[in-house]
Amino acid sequence: MPALRTAIFLQSSEAAGRETVPDGPQVVPSSVGERRNETVSNRESSPVGDAAITIRGVSKSFDRSGDGGRLPALDAVDLEIRRNEFVCLLGPSGCGKSTLLNIIGGLLEPSTGEVFVNRKRVAGPLPKEVAFVFQEDTLLPWYTIVQNMYVALEFQGVPREQRDDRVRAALEAVGMTDFARYYPHQLSVGMKQRVAVARGLSLQTDIVLMDEPFAALDEQTRMVLGEDLSELLERTRKTIVFVTHSLAEAVFLSDRIFVFTARPAHLKSVVAVEEPHPRQPSFMTSDKFNELRNRLYGLLRAEIREAVRQNV
Ligand SMILES: Nc1ncnc2c1ncn2[C@@H]1O[C@H](COP(=O)(O)OP(=O)(O)O)[C@@H](O)[C@H]1O
Ligand SMILES: [Mg+2]
Repeated sequence: MPALRTAIFLQSSEAAGRETVPDGPQVVPSSVGERRNETVSNRESSPVGDAAITIRGVSKSFDRSGDGGRLPALDAVDLEIRRNEFVCLLGPSGCGKSTLLNIIGGLLEPSTGEVFVNRKRVAGPLPKEVAFVFQEDTLLPWYTIVQNMYVALEFQGVPREQRDDRVRAALEAVGMTDFARYYPHQLSVGMKQRVAVARGLSLQTDIVLMDEPFAALDEQTRMVLGEDLSELLERTRKTIVFVTHSLAEAVFLSDRIFVFTARPAHLKSVVAVEEPHPRQPSFMTSDKFNELRNRLYGLLRAEIREAVRQNV
């Protein structure tokens, strides 16, 4: 499989249009339970800096099924993500990572606190500014790969005459051109995730939120896709928020890693990975890599134990 190459993604983000918030309400598909009409608060309220994403005092609790109680999933999370930064949200399974990602993307509403994307308060999905790549296979089975790509561009309101070029370039970038007319069931899990990544990037948003996009893959495929992703993203200059529970994946890809506690997720530590992009395979066997991974494990050990205790 050829390395992920870029062409289209180089048209950067300035073109993605920050002014392009549609006038009317628009619903985008999501794989999470709550869907909300797209609305952006015009309030350029609080003095957020030039961060791509600002999260202030965000807590979230859910109704607990059965006993009428509440399940706290996030606890007073404060953080900022810079433009063009690749950050990982790392924490034990079930701690609240996906919940936080869905709040950033406007798919879920926080119980308290606020999120700002490109200095605007998030009050619903922002399909022109934020793209999602989910863990599970979200390709529509009755459409070919190329048709699946079209659907996403159509939802985003990309003019018809631009769609062909974007789809062609996106598939080429991930080495999937030969499979454009295949149906999802004819592809391996790894190929489907390549398409999902291409689809997310082809939307040409400034920000891409990725929720464990390689979780269903075996470790070796995952490593190769990680290398390809690092190379691809280096050229795209996007802001990426990547959820993972893999220590190695976090170190290999990130500029900074936000480490969370067991549920309810509270920010425990921020670990910087000072290593140029694209990351080389040799980085993975370096002392520096091992030290960082060990540090993360040290931070997470007690949290993993607590998460296991919560879930038994
Ligand atoms: N819509 C929901 N309703 C009720 N509980 C939920 C909902 N979404 C997530 N949860 C619960 O919130 C906790 C955090 O979930 P999640 O954010 O998916 O964790 P992670 O992505 O870190 O594995 C889990 O205990 C999960 O069961
Ligand atoms: Mg999750």
